[in-house]
Amino acid sequence: MLEYKANPHKSGLRLSLGVATAVVVTALVFAITKQQRETTKQRLLSRQLTALLPTDAYDNNPAIDSIQLNKEISNNLLVNQAYLYKKANTTQGAVLHVTTSQGYSGDIELLIALSQHNWIHGVALVAHSETPGLGDKIEQGRSDWLMQLRNLKTESLPASAWAVKKEGGQFDQITGATITPRAVINAVSDTINWYSLNVQSLQ
Ligand SMILES: Cc1cc2nc3c(=O)[nH]c(=O)nc-3n(C[C@H](O)[C@H](O)[C@H](O)COP(=O)(O)O)c2cc1C
Repeated sequence: MLEYKANPHKSGLRLSLGVATAVVVTALVFAITKQQRETTKQRLLSRQLTALLPTDAYDNNPAIDSIQLNKEISNNLLVNQAYLYKKANTTQGAVLHVTTSQGYSGDIELLIALSQHNWIHGVALVAHSETPGLGDKIEQGRSDWLMQLRNLKTESLPASAWAVKKEGGQFDQITGATITPRAVINAVSDTINWYSLNVQSLQ
């Protein structure tokens, strides 16, 4: 009877080759899907910018005319990026991508579309981890809550208006979930104030 004796050197080599192949394949798959993830993110961004801005307000591509900021404007609010919208090469306003850490479950990312003429065009939700059935009602698909931040003249809103009704402000609350709307309203209010002070540097 023939007895099979494994060559430890060959087995080791095969194992190393297998591991190396797996690493290369994983790296390739990651690189390919990274590109796909980036494309999906860009498409979503373009869709959200189009939905937020009035079509006649700009003739550029704000997704490309953007400035990376990464500025902490308070200890719970980060302004990540400004997407400038322009008409005939003149900046009309900016859509600011911000992250507030005041959510019930941490970060809430928003796009806030502001004109230089003191209008809030609207606010869109980019990402959040709020609780299903409670804080997630800020999602456009789940309720109209975010719609109350559309087409508002900022000058007509005193600082005291920036709160939910039960806290003396003018915005609707979400029953049993005040923390999430408070985080969004504070983020929008602070972003408007920051934008009005920095508008000249965002041209
Ligand atoms: C498991 C759990 C998840 C919750 N998720 C949220 C949430 O996503 N957003 C929120 O504002 N409040 C959430 N709450 C409720 C808050 O703890 C808090 O009671 C509420 O925001 C206060 O709002 P109210 O004054 O309208 O009751 C959650 C509570 C529990 C127990």
